[in-house]
Formats: sequence, structure tokens, C-alpha cells
Amino acid sequence: MKDIKPLPSIYFPDFIAANQGERADNVLTGTKQEQMEQIRKDIRDFKTKNGLDQVILLWTANTERFSAVEEGVNDNAENILSSIEMGEAEVSASTVFAVASILEGCTFINGSPQNTFVPGVVELARQKKVFIAGDDFKSGQTKMKSVMVDFLVSAGIKPVSIVSYNHLGNNDGKNLSAPSQFRSKEISKSNVVDDMVASNRILFEEDEHPDHVVVIKYVPYVADSKRAMDEYTSEIFMGGKNTIAMHNTCEDSLLATPLIYDLVILGELCQRVQVKKEGETEWESFHPVLSILSYMLKAPLVPNGAPVVNALFTQRCAIVNLMRACLGLAPDNHMTLEHRFESTLAAFSSDEPANKKMRLG
Ligand SMILES: NC(=O)c1ccc[n+]([C@@H]2O[C@H](COP(=O)([O-])OP(=O)(O)OC[C@H]3O[C@@H](n4cnc5c(N)ncnc54)[C@H](O)[C@@H]3O)[C@@H](O)[C@H]2O)c1
Repeated sequence: MKDIKPLPSIYFPDFIAANQGERADNVLTGTKQEQMEQIRKDIRDFKTKNGLDQVILLWTANTERFSAVEEGVNDNAENILSSIEMGEAEVSASTVFAVASILEGCTFINGSPQNTFVPGVVELARQKKVFIAGDDFKSGQTKMKSVMVDFLVSAGIKPVSIVSYNHLGNNDGKNLSAPSQFRSKEISKSNVVDDMVASNRILFEEDEHPDHVVVIKYVPYVADSKRAMDEYTSEIFMGGKNTIAMHNTCEDSLLATPLIYDLVILGELCQRVQVKKEGETEWESFHPVLSILSYMLKAPLVPNGAPVVNALFTQRCAIVNLMRACLGLAPDNHMTLEHRFESTLAAFSSDEPANKKMRLG
């Protein structure tokens, strides 16, 4: 990639760690509105120059601090547009990118943890019927957690303490060593067990949660080879305790890059999926908040009122079954009744159709 020269980008020092200043050597100047117009022009030029039908934008720049959601600033579509016009300080670079992308009709995916999608951006995406998806790539420790906790809770093993340490030495780690950028990551990593805990009300009462702590430290020597150490302590039968300790050495960027491809490819495919009920004339696309991409994302953004699903295999199953539906196939349900009864097994081996009804006696 050494021969690729990136286009100048937006640099708002207030949103990323001060230690990033010296890298910011290729930046746009001008007002917020002018910088947004430049990004829009870059998108159009990129499309024309490369003869493309579609452009999809994906944010994989530095983690920013959270933006404050304020009335009159970023709480609705009209306000976010006028805030950019007025140069309002609380609009982040990633939000300016997201707005530029939406105004150009391009799907925008956020691979970082901050709240790029303030309510005004979500409303704008809905108005313009453009997809947005986020937040934060699910590449290492959280991916493991969204499997591990699902397994524990569904096996009737009650996780009561989940403690996750990370140390890494790449530039992401350097940026995250500043408290407000770390806070964005901490938030996106922290809700991942909620839906799995809530799925088993025999183990967990309403409002009962495991202790869950996330620590991230910057250790330059390990560079991109991130170390993730997790300890899951669970209560088991008769008040017993079960502790699982894991040490995961993850090549951070090599885990993230395939996710970037998958997010863009699946995002593009979703743009071509439409549904209509029998008898209706209008075709409908997915909701602009494209929650189906959450398989690859740590803190899934979902449409208002929709449940957040973090469990990895449930997320994967949704994608598989959606693809099956597009081909006119029934969803995978893993009942495999044909292999569970003498008569159906026999029918299968003799190629006879097995017509059975089930009843619960
Ligand atoms: N496994 C992973 O690598 C992983 C997993 C989850 C999330 N993420 C997130 O992805 C993002 C990128 O991770 P990374 O390891 O590549 O980080 P990095 O710091 O190595 O790279 C980010 C790059 O973005 C540049 N940049 C900062 N602000 C910019 C702007 N406004 N426009 C254009 N470029 C800008 C920086 O100078 C830097 O070169 C981070 O937010 C990180 O938290 C990464």
C-alpha cells in the first residue's frame, strides 16, 4: 500500500487523542461545511474515476470520543445539517463523513466504537433511505465473548464475573490510551453480554447482571499482536464455582481486515434485497439501520424498538437464513426430524417421502 496516497481528510483534534497530532499531516482546511462538501466531491470523483456503480464508505480511522447528544445540535436531521453549516464544535469528523455519505446516497459503516450515529444522522439516513451500520468491528476478545457467554448461559452455567484485560502496542492502542477514547471502547465492549444474560430468566432475575470489567493498556513492544486475557467465573450446580481463563494472542489488523471486506460485500448485497407481501404492489428495502451486519460488529446499532442481538451464532443464523430466503429456501432449523424416528429414517433410506405430523402428548 506504500504507493497509495490517501486523500486529505478531516482532523478535529478535540475528538481524538492528543498523541495523534503528529500523524495528522494530510488534512483538509476550511469550515465544517466546506470540508463536508469536499468529502462529497471526493466520493463523486472516486466513483466517476473508477467507473463504479456504487460507493460504500467505512470508517476505520481513529476511535473518537463520544459526542454529546444535545437538543438543537444533533438531535434531528435538520439540526445536524445546520450544525455542520454553522461549524458547531460538537460535530465529529466521523459524523461529517457519515452525513456526506448519506447525502451522496452511499451506505456508511462505522468500524469504530464512538457514537458517529447521533440521532440526527439516523433520522437523515431514514429520510434519504440510505443504509447505515455500526458500531465497532467485532474481531477478537468480544467475538470470543459473544460465543462464550452464549454457551455458558444456554448451558445453565451462570457467569457472575467477567473480567477482560487487553494490551496492545499499535497506533490504535496509543490513541486508546487517552481516557475519553478508551471510554468509547469501554462502552462498546460492555453491553455485549446483555441479551444473552436476559435470555435465561431462570439463571438471572430481571436487572441482575454479571460483574463485567474491561481494561485496555498500551504496551508498544507487542505492536499489532494484541493480547486479550479473560476470566469467566460462573456459578454451577450446588453453589459450585467454575472459572475459565483464556489467553488470546490476536493479530489485530489481520482479524479486522476480512471483516471490512465482509461488511462492505454484505452491505452491498443488502442494497439489492427487497421484500413484498403477497398481494402488495410496493417492494420494501431493509430498514436504513442495517442491523443484519451486526455479526461483524461489537455494539450493534438496531432500529428503534428492535432487540439487540449479540450472540454470535444467532447473528450468523440470521444471515444464513436471509440468504436462503433470497433463494426461496426454508430456514435452517436443525430439527432434522428425518433422522430422529425409525419410520422417517427408513423412509429416507428408501427414498420414500416421509409425511408426519407431530403432537405433544
Ligand atoms: N482488530 C482491530 O484492528 C479493530 C477492532 C475493532 C475496532 N477497531 C477500530 O478500527 C479503527 C482503526 O484501527 P487501527 O488499528 O487501524 O488504528 P490506527 O490508529 O492504526 O489507524 C487509524 C488511522 O486513521 C488515521 N485517521 C485519524 N483520523 C482520521 C480522519 N479523520 N480521517 C482519515 N484518517 C484518520 C490515523 O492517522 C491512523 O493512520 C480504530 O477506531 C479501532 O478501534 C479495530
